[in-house]
Amino acid sequence: MTASLSDSVSGSVSVSPSPWWRQAAVYQIYPRSFADSNGDGMGDLPGVTARMGYLSELGIDAIWLSPFYPSALADGGYDVDDYRNVDPRLGSLTDFDAMVAAAHAAGIRVIVDVVPNHSSNRHTWFKAALAAAPGSAERARYHFLDGLGNDGELPPSDWPSHFGGAAWTRVVEAAGPNAGSLGQWYLHLFATEQPDFNWDNPEVREDFHTTLRFWSDRGVDGFRIDVAHALVKDMSLPLRSKPDLEILVDDGSDPLFDRDAVHEVFEGWRSVLNEYDPPKAAVAEAWVPFTDRRLKYARPTELGQAFNFDLLQAPFLATEFRAIAQKCLSEAASSGASSTWVFSNHDVVRHPSRYGLPDGSTREDLEAWLLADGATPALDSARGLRRARAATLFMLGLPGSAYLYQGEELGLFEAAELPASVLQDPTWFRTLHKVKGRDGCRVPLPWSASEADFGFGGIPWLPQPEWFGEFAADAQAGVAGSTLEMYRAALKLRRELQAEESLEWLSSPESEVIHYRRPNGWEVITNFAAVPAVLPSGVDLSRVVLTSGTATEAADGAGSEQAGTIPPETTLWLAP
Ligand code: NOJ
Repeated sequence: MTASLSDSVSGSVSVSPSPWWRQAAVYQIYPRSFADSNGDGMGDLPGVTARMGYLSELGIDAIWLSPFYPSALADGGYDVDDYRNVDPRLGSLTDFDAMVAAAHAAGIRVIVDVVPNHSSNRHTWFKAALAAAPGSAERARYHFLDGLGNDGELPPSDWPSHFGGAAWTRVVEAAGPNAGSLGQWYLHLFATEQPDFNWDNPEVREDFHTTLRFWSDRGVDGFRIDVAHALVKDMSLPLRSKPDLEILVDDGSDPLFDRDAVHEVFEGWRSVLNEYDPPKAAVAEAWVPFTDRRLKYARPTELGQAFNFDLLQAPFLATEFRAIAQKCLSEAASSGASSTWVFSNHDVVRHPSRYGLPDGSTREDLEAWLLADGATPALDSARGLRRARAATLFMLGLPGSAYLYQGEELGLFEAAELPASVLQDPTWFRTLHKVKGRDGCRVPLPWSASEADFGFGGIPWLPQPEWFGEFAADAQAGVAGSTLEMYRAALKLRRELQAEESLEWLSSPESEVIHYRRPNGWEVITNFAAVPAVLPSGVDLSRVVLTSGTATEAADGAGSEQAGTIPPETTLWLAP
């Protein structure tokens, strides 16, 4: 296995004296499910503050908090009533300041979520829009249109909502000549309770600058931008047909997604973020299929980073992982961005479950598995966790930032068995119970195997399955080979071993073993095969500083590197 020069990715990063976020380990907190400080069953900001010691010991560089703003929770908080406040159930602005202070004291940066595509239907502006007449300035902050058909009884277009059903809802007019009658329709690409903003309106643009400054002034270090690629839309009439929400041709011509004009918005945001010293970081959530367009969001003149969801969507295959890593790194290097990696978040089935289901499972297969409450097909949990741990160590060695989702450090699986009666995801309701949705990855964390509610703090808003106890943080802390200890060791070593943003491939692109080396000599070797692989020649096992082999495997000898082989589905880290 030899390196080909054309395969090596040169970081040649001339931007910056390396800002912190370029190679950070960022831990996503879904606040309602992290830790509950007041026993109401909902996680909160003081709960985060109370667990800062845990986060510090984990060794992450930053936390990213999903929305904690006032919200009716029609979409888990991504329906924001007030962008510059804290939901009273989650705390207060004072609690927020205390959390930031505790994080900073622990050397942890804070990233908050901004949700600019839509507000909630309880936002002051939307209430004003409903109260005002068609054609008013209040309506112009959102997308209100007359319907089609003889009497406006049909929605203005065939656009579907992401969560099922139509993307339009008709209102009863409160003012104007038709007061008291059914009138205009408003656009919501997500739930009915999430009306889309009109980003052609300067007032909307200005208000988000105010929000960015508000949280920046309170000390946050960066922002994660929700559905960043959807803000600017082509609303010229007649609206173009788009019966599904996939981007079919990603060339900027889609009426809803990834339009070129969205980049002006983020250039404006960069100016605001650069008012601070150091400038604030930002990462775009943009489910854009091809990296060259996706990376535009991450240019230094815009946000700096954009999530790459390619690894998250890939099967556990060396050829796929290698090609994706190569492509993302090359694109990042050419645009001046730093790459990002992620396997799990609050929107997808947790990766140990994905990897433990039959190979080749599609998104539809995962949905069917959830609908069957995880009973069929059977999950091979040992394999799923083994692969997840190997994938994590593969990713944590790569140049760029790693985004981790709360609970993955515990090796949590999806809680697929949640009964219909407890589900809260709007997907479940809007698809008329055809798609179960995302609640299974949002179940409150198990902190203690022996305490009530596994130490979460109150009766959790989603029930924790019995098996959560085995994964509790206190059941794993100090236990050699546990997933928690593997993450702790990896994150600590990652800091010590961190190198320039580049790597060299030492294995061939077709191999089932991926072997790469960072410029300082740190090497990562992953065997993706289900059988042991021969160690690359010249590899000295005395340099192994970390393995993803699980505790069980270590106990029966399968996880150890014996007789010149790498165990199946295992990653090794070699020190320089
Ligand atoms: C992406 C978020 O991650 C997801 O949870 C949310 O439902 C949608 N955007 C809408 O805000």
